[in-house]
Amino acid sequence: MKILVLFDIAYRIAAAAGTFSPQALKEEEDKPTEADVLACLQRLGHEVETLAIFDDVLCMVEKLKNFAPEVVFNLTESFHSSRAHEPNIPALLELMRVKYTGARPDGLMLCKDKALAKKVLAYHRVRVPHFVISTELRPLKRLRRFIYPAFVKPVGEESSDGIAKASFAKSEEEALERARFIHEKFHCDALIEEYIEGRELYLSVMGNRKLSVFPPREIFFHDVPEDMPKFATFKAKWDDTYRKKWGIQNGPANELPAGVQEKLARLARKVYRVLKITGFGRVDVRLTQAGEVVVIEANPNPALDCEGDFAQAAGAAGLPYDVLIQKILDTAGA
Ligand SMILES: Nc1ncnc2c1ncn2[C@@H]1O[C@H](COP(=O)(O)OP(=O)(O)O)[C@@H](O)[C@H]1O
Ligand SMILES: [Mg+2]
Repeated sequence: MKILVLFDIAYRIAAAAGTFSPQALKEEEDKPTEADVLACLQRLGHEVETLAIFDDVLCMVEKLKNFAPEVVFNLTESFHSSRAHEPNIPALLELMRVKYTGARPDGLMLCKDKALAKKVLAYHRVRVPHFVISTELRPLKRLRRFIYPAFVKPVGEESSDGIAKASFAKSEEEALERARFIHEKFHCDALIEEYIEGRELYLSVMGNRKLSVFPPREIFFHDVPEDMPKFATFKAKWDDTYRKKWGIQNGPANELPAGVQEKLARLARKVYRVLKITGFGRVDVRLTQAGEVVVIEANPNPALDCEGDFAQAAGAAGLPYDVLIQKILDTAGA
């Protein structure tokens, strides 16, 4: 097949920059998903080209016309360095009637606004953390009957941007201060949520009509002291030295109480459908000591690097990486 691997890049780039190599993507651009997907598509024998976009829509339109790919492997997450534009890329592909992998504009729009996603889930009786929204325009001044600790995060960021130790707030004052910080730094609304203590599990789902759910993954905080809150800050996700220091690792989930894995799979399917995710997605939940499952967030188009949770979960379900990537291509809709 003729495939265009489309991704975003953090600087202005000429459309004529040519095709990136997997090695350059991994080593120079720090883009493991793009590198692994590209190398895989080449191994599978497809005719592949890449296009890196920053702020130029015309170059994308031209490339699509000139190269005329059968499918776009859509790995974009932002445009003009803004994540708010993520849904607009597949929207443009829809207008041009080009087939592409992964989430559609509506699924992205729903999930990227974490407050809206939670309202929709709550309507469908899915347990989510209780929350209030502090808007950038009218920041909250009081929280009234909120129960602490609270967890404060940007409403529309990803990859733990804006998640640090200070996201965990033990009082009204700490929560409001963190919300103010988010308004100033990210220029967006802040979610002030009920903090959910518990094991953090990642549920990978693939498909459109018929869905597969892969075995759960878990994040472990082996060397974080017992009495410290454990959650995936930016450093805990991306800083290898920090991860090593605190024994933070992602791996197959430890043993789960009887019946919980089936319950998680049903929940993951429901969340995926309710939030209109297509292609592939990852639902992040917390499992409390009391056995309650609480949905933290749903991720359309999660990372697809070989070492990442999605690919590893697929592997555990008996799908080698190349089979997984081909299946994702096969789920691409027009
Ligand atoms: N309500 C919450 N209670 C406990 N931990 C949370 C809560 N919300 C988020 N977290 C922690 O913060 C991390 C990042 O939050 P998340 O909403 O998934 O944002 P991102 O899109 O940046 O991944 C989660 O993986 C989890 O560890
Ligand atoms: Mg997350």
